[in-house]
Amino acid sequence: MKRESVKVAVTGAAGQIGYAILFRLASGEIFGHHTKISLHLLEITPALKALEGVVMELHDCAFPLLDNIIVTDNAETAFDGVNWALLIGSKPRTKGMERGELIRENGPIFTGQGNALNKAAADARVLVVGNPANTNCLIATKNSDLPAERFAAMTRLDQNRAYAQLAQKAGVPVTAVSNVTIWGNHSATQYPDAENAKINGRPAMDVITDHNWLRGEFISVVQKRGAAIIEARGLSSAASAASAALDHVKSMESATPAGHWFSAGVLSDGSYGVAKGLNFSFPLASDGQGGYEIVQGLPLSNFAREKIKLTEAELEEEKAVVADLL
Ligand code: NAD
Ligand code: LMR
Repeated sequence: MKRESVKVAVTGAAGQIGYAILFRLASGEIFGHHTKISLHLLEITPALKALEGVVMELHDCAFPLLDNIIVTDNAETAFDGVNWALLIGSKPRTKGMERGELIRENGPIFTGQGNALNKAAADARVLVVGNPANTNCLIATKNSDLPAERFAAMTRLDQNRAYAQLAQKAGVPVTAVSNVTIWGNHSATQYPDAENAKINGRPAMDVITDHNWLRGEFISVVQKRGAAIIEARGLSSAASAASAALDHVKSMESATPAGHWFSAGVLSDGSYGVAKGLNFSFPLASDGQGGYEIVQGLPLSNFAREKIKLTEAELEEEKAVVADLL
């Protein structure tokens, strides 16, 4: 989509991911080098001072396309007229926790923000990054008047992780890998699908003949990568999360080439037998105008179906825990 100018809201702008995403947005890398950008930065009141420092740095970069910066602790002000809202602001998990344990603490953030998104531009797109991303996205979707198809939860980081693992195993550049799907929840139950993936246009299962690895270690490495990063860094992923969020935006802003797809958590319409009304990661193709469709007809083995059922069951449980917020 070509635009003259774009307004992007970023919540949690003074946080780790905020610090990794704002400068790339402002550089013109995402929306093109002819599109002016306004950043609408939302933080909780105690973090506004830190955010002031980030804003000073944004100014000090003298980005030619950076038109305007709004700093606020009011969600309606932040979302007023925006084309994109990147909902990052929320608490990250710490060592030993699962993301789902954050739901009662982070979930309520997305009721108010969902409602405040009614102030966004009529064609606004929303990406929920804050964990647990799928269920938070469901909360935002249900609390907003924007159409449900405007909302997505980020599983792009999982997709990128899967691409990197397959490329390393096959000894090929990451650009040789395509058609990986992340099914389900951005959690340790997600199913990264190598059975439909391709490497240099050939089935990944033909190129990587170690099927024990594909059905075992590959899946668990991707499922547990977030925890491995927390273990190593003492903090959750930030630069790679920011990069994945930007990849999602780019995928939605351009038409997906025929035969390709990317993954994100969207409201299930019952595709692949997944219960309607869950926010579930599917293979998506974008029309480049803000719309997408769930790619249909991917073959699923019994192994894949069992994995998909497990992650679906976890999302049902999370949904039940926040029933009062929906
Ligand atoms: P962080 O703690 O560094 O920053 C979060 C920021 O959000 C803080 O500055 C905080 O003040 C702000 N915040 C809290 N509540 C807010 C609210 N109601 N409105 C606006 N801002 C608010 O955390 P981070 O590392 O940037 O991670 C942010 C979230 O993203 C976490 O929930 C983390 O688990 C999640 N995450 C998701 C993925 C994914 O793949 N979906 C990847 C990485 C991190
Ligand atoms: C990730 O996948 O890195 C993020 O969701 C952060 C986390 O808690 O693992």
